[in-house]
Amino acid sequence: MSPSALNIEDLRRLAKRRLTRGLFEFCDRGSEDDVALRHNRDALERIKLRSRVLNDTSSRHTKSKLFCKPVDMPLVIGPTGPAGFVWYRGETALARAAAKAGIPFTVASTSNTPMEQIVEKGGGGRLWYHLYVWRDMEVSLKAVPRAEAAGFEALVLTVDSTVPYNREFDVRNGTTMPVRLTPQNIADLITHPRWLFGTIGRYVLADGHLPRYVNIDMPNGLSSADARDFLFKNDTLDWDFLKRIRDMWSRKLVVKGILHADDAAKCAECGVDAVVISNHGGIASDSALAPIAVLPSVVREVGDRMTVIVDSGFRRGSDILKGLALGADAVIVGRATLYGVSAAGEPGATRALEILQAEMHRTMGVMGLTRIADITRDHVVLPHELPL
Ligand SMILES: Cc1cc2nc3c(=O)[nH]c(=O)nc-3n(C[C@H](O)[C@H](O)[C@H](O)COP(=O)(O)O)c2cc1C
Repeated sequence: MSPSALNIEDLRRLAKRRLTRGLFEFCDRGSEDDVALRHNRDALERIKLRSRVLNDTSSRHTKSKLFCKPVDMPLVIGPTGPAGFVWYRGETALARAAAKAGIPFTVASTSNTPMEQIVEKGGGGRLWYHLYVWRDMEVSLKAVPRAEAAGFEALVLTVDSTVPYNREFDVRNGTTMPVRLTPQNIADLITHPRWLFGTIGRYVLADGHLPRYVNIDMPNGLSSADARDFLFKNDTLDWDFLKRIRDMWSRKLVVKGILHADDAAKCAECGVDAVVISNHGGIASDSALAPIAVLPSVVREVGDRMTVIVDSGFRRGSDILKGLALGADAVIVGRATLYGVSAAGEPGATRALEILQAEMHRTMGVMGLTRIADITRDHVVLPHELPL
């Protein structure tokens, strides 16, 4: 991809041009009035970085460790359901971009490419598998031994999506997942031929049908309405369920969607290896706290016992450094790389990661930092601590 995209917002604009309006809003917006979406950004922007000078930073680098293994930067690509709808085999493109950047990629439950194929063609990097629990719990759990057999390093159980999100714009746009022709979206589809033929057309030519959720063991022959009902999330999840998952999965277990230090502590008691402080990128609840604001209390509670990851709203390398300074071991991005892959496939996702790494590298120089491990709480100033 030409380096015409200088920042994540440029990739967002390119994605907007290529995708249908319905699909772009599905990826870009939050829920209800987009309050949480804006709040995630506001909270990060109101935190300031404190620089130190006259340190030789000429040998600085962004390398770090995650689960005791090296990463080229403390970043993970999070699960985003529509990755395979925005680009043909978009999940494989993201996996390859992550492998090249030396960071893990999380395969979403609702991917359109078989998980084994993503492992085979994903560039040999670190792969995590994300688990949603559908209305039929036993069917959902079939993915766990399958992911283990496929060789995934970690299982990411998302716990903040037990009820469907209130996304009124999706209803108005006629957007459904999997993508379907609806009376509202016909004009939107035919006025975006690059996406329609370049993505959907390629699935039809290659597979003989529209993209499907191939990693979910859904019964054959369900109508669209029955399929939606089948996928309806499961609001019976509880701590016993988490213990059951812990017993089923012997590798790294990550719980995503924590917004309270006490819940992080309970995860630690259940033997979970990492928590992701997340409000699902502002999608789960429009009144959610910004995860960056919750992070310090979680680090105080469990930071010495488990890996702490934060996400929601990270668009700049400086945002990532703020998360690390507040005690996170790593940051997850969802939209940053989703915009990249929507704009230009693997090169677009690679560009997103290059931008974030270059911004981190530059900002570390400004802050007088040589190594990620040297970032401390003293490098950030919270809004209530500002002198003016
Ligand atoms: C379009 C879209 C789809 C997503 N799908 C999933 C998903 O299937 N499972 C999940 O746990 N999180 C999902 N997420 C949330 C992301 O994993 C991540 O928590 C969030 O995007 C982080 O916020 P950011 O987009 O501001 O970086 C999705 C987010 C977006 C924007």
